[in-house]
Amino acid sequence: MNINDKSNPKPYVPNPERYNTMQYNRCGNSGVLLPKISLGLWHNFGFYDSFENARNILKKAFDLGITHLDLANNYGPPYGSAEENFGRILHKDFKAHRDELFIASKAGFDMWPGPYGNHGSKKYLVASLDQSLQRMGLDYVDVFYHHRPDADTPLEETMHALDLLVKQGKALYVGLSRYSPQETIEAQKILKSLGTPCLIHQSKYSMLDRSVEPELLPTLLDEKIGSIVFSPLAQGLLTDKYLKGIPEGSRASKDNTYLQAEEIPKTIEMIQKLNEVAQNRGQKLSQMAIAWILTQPAITTVLVGASSPKQLEENLLATNNTTFSNDEITLINSILKGA
Ligand SMILES: NC(=O)c1ccc[n+]([C@@H]2O[C@H](COP(=O)([O-])OP(=O)(O)OC[C@H]3O[C@@H](n4cnc5c(N)ncnc54)[C@H](OP(=O)(O)O)[C@@H]3O)[C@@H](O)[C@H]2O)c1
Repeated sequence: MNINDKSNPKPYVPNPERYNTMQYNRCGNSGVLLPKISLGLWHNFGFYDSFENARNILKKAFDLGITHLDLANNYGPPYGSAEENFGRILHKDFKAHRDELFIASKAGFDMWPGPYGNHGSKKYLVASLDQSLQRMGLDYVDVFYHHRPDADTPLEETMHALDLLVKQGKALYVGLSRYSPQETIEAQKILKSLGTPCLIHQSKYSMLDRSVEPELLPTLLDEKIGSIVFSPLAQGLLTDKYLKGIPEGSRASKDNTYLQAEEIPKTIEMIQKLNEVAQNRGQKLSQMAIAWILTQPAITTVLVGASSPKQLEENLLATNNTTFSNDEITLINSILKGA
């Protein structure tokens, strides 16, 4: 080994204390425990991002007890590159720790050209998971999701495809993403009849988007399905990062279709007020936003994104204070209603 070769640094030795501080919740009525906070690889892990930064975020996550990592076929950009980079990092740093990780992938959005690279057919889902496994260098994923409902494919076909992948040993569990309460109930009925019940449901949930509260979350509790919620920080809006404008390199500063820059002035007054509440609780706004979600009994795990190890470390401190007084809840609700 050439000691000057930067691609061959000291092997990664995970923090031996990693399981002492993170708390784990049972996912629905399954045998699976998931960390209260999980990490998503939608942004910051593609070929256009820094590989070393991605690697450091993953090491930080694992050191902090985050065992659940969320991927999808189309994460990047370009599509597939987050899985490919993740596979390289897994091989370099986490080879000895595969059984300590709970890895998710998904298919449901456009992935490759032609009629078989999108939506919910068996043809697409089976081929896509094969491709994902190849990119990540894995024999199986822990959970495979249908990424979004597809009204044009019979639900039976999509659920049969998920069940088939479990029976083939390519996924241990199945998940549903963005399914409405009614679609979830129907899908779960089919999955149960096949002997492969839905483990987990993935949906968007934050202080700024509470649409899951009245119906979806109670449905998941009734159906005993775990709940993982994405964009808990509204892609960064629910942090102190935009209080003084749009910093260079932030998601809103990038020329893309994700967090639109025009969202900032629309919400800034509310964000400032929420930031004050967080400060009075002795928390950062990002921590309060995550803690607030964790008060919901249906939530198994909050799925955050991070562009640096520091952000992740900061976000995890949310679990230190997840208790809200009645006055705080009233105040937060009134601020959010003013949106
Ligand atoms: N099922 C689906 O359809 C679906 C859809 C979307 C997402 N997801 C999953 O959910 C995961 C999380 O989504 P998300 O990335 O939108 O979540 P998020 O946690 O709401 O936003 C993450 C972004 O917020 C900023 N941020 C995070 N912590 C911060 C802090 N402490 N201070 C300042 N800024 C901070 C960073 O953006 P900067 O780059 O600006 O620093 C970071 O990349 C994704 O990776 C993906 O796995 C699933």
